[in-house]
Amino acid sequence: MTLRPRRLRKSESIRRLVREIQLTVDDLIYPLFVMEGEQQKVEVPSMPGCYRYSLDELLKEIEDAQAVGIGAIALFPLIPDHQKDAQATESLNPEGLIPKTVKAIKQAFPDLVVITDVALDPYSSLGHDGLVDEQGRILNDPTVEILAKMALIQAEAGADWVAPSDMMDGRVGAIRKVLDASGHWKVSILAYSAKYASAYYGPFRDALESAPRFGDKKTYQMDSANALEALKEVNLDIAEGADIVMVKPALAYMDIIHRIRTSTHLPVAAYNVSGEYAMIKAAAQKGWIDEKAIMLETLTSLKRAGANLILTYFAKEAALLLRNS
Ligand code: PBG
Repeated sequence: MTLRPRRLRKSESIRRLVREIQLTVDDLIYPLFVMEGEQQKVEVPSMPGCYRYSLDELLKEIEDAQAVGIGAIALFPLIPDHQKDAQATESLNPEGLIPKTVKAIKQAFPDLVVITDVALDPYSSLGHDGLVDEQGRILNDPTVEILAKMALIQAEAGADWVAPSDMMDGRVGAIRKVLDASGHWKVSILAYSAKYASAYYGPFRDALESAPRFGDKKTYQMDSANALEALKEVNLDIAEGADIVMVKPALAYMDIIHRIRTSTHLPVAAYNVSGEYAMIKAAAQKGWIDEKAIMLETLTSLKRAGANLILTYFAKEAALLLRNS
């Protein structure tokens, strides 16, 4: 036998030399949940190790994350029921939870990249990402107007990147236009371009108490059977001014990550979502898997598939492991 691939796997030193990619802390974005109050750190039952933080506690968590090298966070708000309504009015409050939180974070950590979510669901009493008419249909264009205003409020509070996760048509272009018209040309758009209607978001909706109160999200989020449609969505978002395109969820959509990576020149992000996190945590709690090894294997595989940025609830834990390895 002359061809022996095992020669290059003989020792760890050789494996390190021929390794094709390397997961690093620079790839990771840490999603965090924020709530009103003080000294609050409430664990999400379906996401062990993930908490909803009041601002003071959130700042401590960010400090810890920065200490292990994390350079970016994505913020999601838990809005109390009494502040939710069918119009998602609270999403346009310039003194609301997210603008207030962004200002405080940027003041304390000016170099941290702060990413805000643009969608109505955490603010909507109906739990949908858009406005809803009497027949229960999700209204596209009136929603886009609100989303553009919401993005502007977030930019004014100091967000570095705004991330529309709503899947309405035309929102990236509308947001870019409003941001540019108000001088916020430095604010980037991280577009949830290929966002699928997925059962993997369940634990996230527990965290934010944001599950749809009726129906599902299949008229706006994508059908899990479709791949070409993801390319269509990505092309539209790029034409409308997206700076980074994202695939979500990640693990069940690795082919999509790969196809988008090979078909565009923009950075590609993958969102390792709440259900993906919960499955690993649950199996680990049962003692059925090696949590640390599976975490790093999963994140490495997403990078290998083509993700340049990875949003993951494991960010802090992974950063710690990477630093010690
Ligand atoms: C809101 C939003 C969702 C997630 C991120 N932004 C939920 C949804 O669309 O229903 C899911 C994130 C996760 O599951 O980790 N538009």
